[in-house]
Amino acid sequence: MTTVDAPQPSAAASGNAASDRFALDKGGFDDVKDTPKERVDTLAREVLGAVHEIIHRHQVTYPEYNALKAWLIKVGHDGEWPLFLDVWVEHALEEVTTAHRKGNKGTIEGPYYVPNAPELGPDATMPMRDDEPGDKLVWEGTITSLDGTPLAGKLEVWHADDDGLYSQYAPGLPVWNLRGTVSTAEDGKFRVTTIKPKPYMIPTDGACGQLIAAAGWHAWRPAHVHFKVSAPGHELVTGQLYFPGDPHNADDVASAVKPELMLDPKLQPDGSYTVTYNFVLDPVEG
Ligand code: DHB
Ligand code: FE
Repeated sequence: MTTVDAPQPSAAASGNAASDRFALDKGGFDDVKDTPKERVDTLAREVLGAVHEIIHRHQVTYPEYNALKAWLIKVGHDGEWPLFLDVWVEHALEEVTTAHRKGNKGTIEGPYYVPNAPELGPDATMPMRDDEPGDKLVWEGTITSLDGTPLAGKLEVWHADDDGLYSQYAPGLPVWNLRGTVSTAEDGKFRVTTIKPKPYMIPTDGACGQLIAAAGWHAWRPAHVHFKVSAPGHELVTGQLYFPGDPHNADDVASAVKPELMLDPKLQPDGSYTVTYNFVLDPVEG
């Protein structure tokens, strides 16, 4: 069941909310303050060099250059830089960052994480409305270290609702709807009771939507459940879980689907879906 009249967020509303969130949590330069000038020089020069090369190779015109300028200005005006970067750039960063791992690698974080969601313990029911639409999903699993030792850790979960909308980025939803912090004890076990999210469409009325329409692309991400899983002395894994058979698993606009990230829930006689998905965390080196 889908709520037909769920208010859709405008690109500028969800984009500016994502930009504000980013500024609060991550948007500083402190983490790179010791970067040598040589590295900045190399990265900046090679990015610009790639742009120059494309202009020559495709004989880019002044009207196209001006359209690019107008578009870049509009991305900022709509607050869509987090959306643009997380959809079309973040997956490459994630691949570089997690390539060395032997346990779970994960995938992109996307723009809609909010820290400090309500603490729910190891047997968690996600915060949701009394009449939350959607199929009930019960997900069980264990957090272990690479050597199989169960870990007392933390599993943060956030996902869209049955209309593909995220709390705090779409109007009318309770603040922590479908966002929670699950914890595990020494046995590493958790259970999360929630609903299956629906596919998510990135907003089409802003600059990112304009690019998608002009290029003849589509705006869909397959249905997904976001997570961050952590335990002391282990690497944080950020990722998303997907569902087999989703029409957009093969052409996710954000290029973030991986075969090892599939949840395959089975329908139970009571109409709910159950699934097991475990996490294996790499110990921090050194
Ligand atoms: C976007 C939204 C998501 O839920 C996600 O996982 C990645 C990107 C976006 O709107 O840009
Ligand atoms: Fe998402």
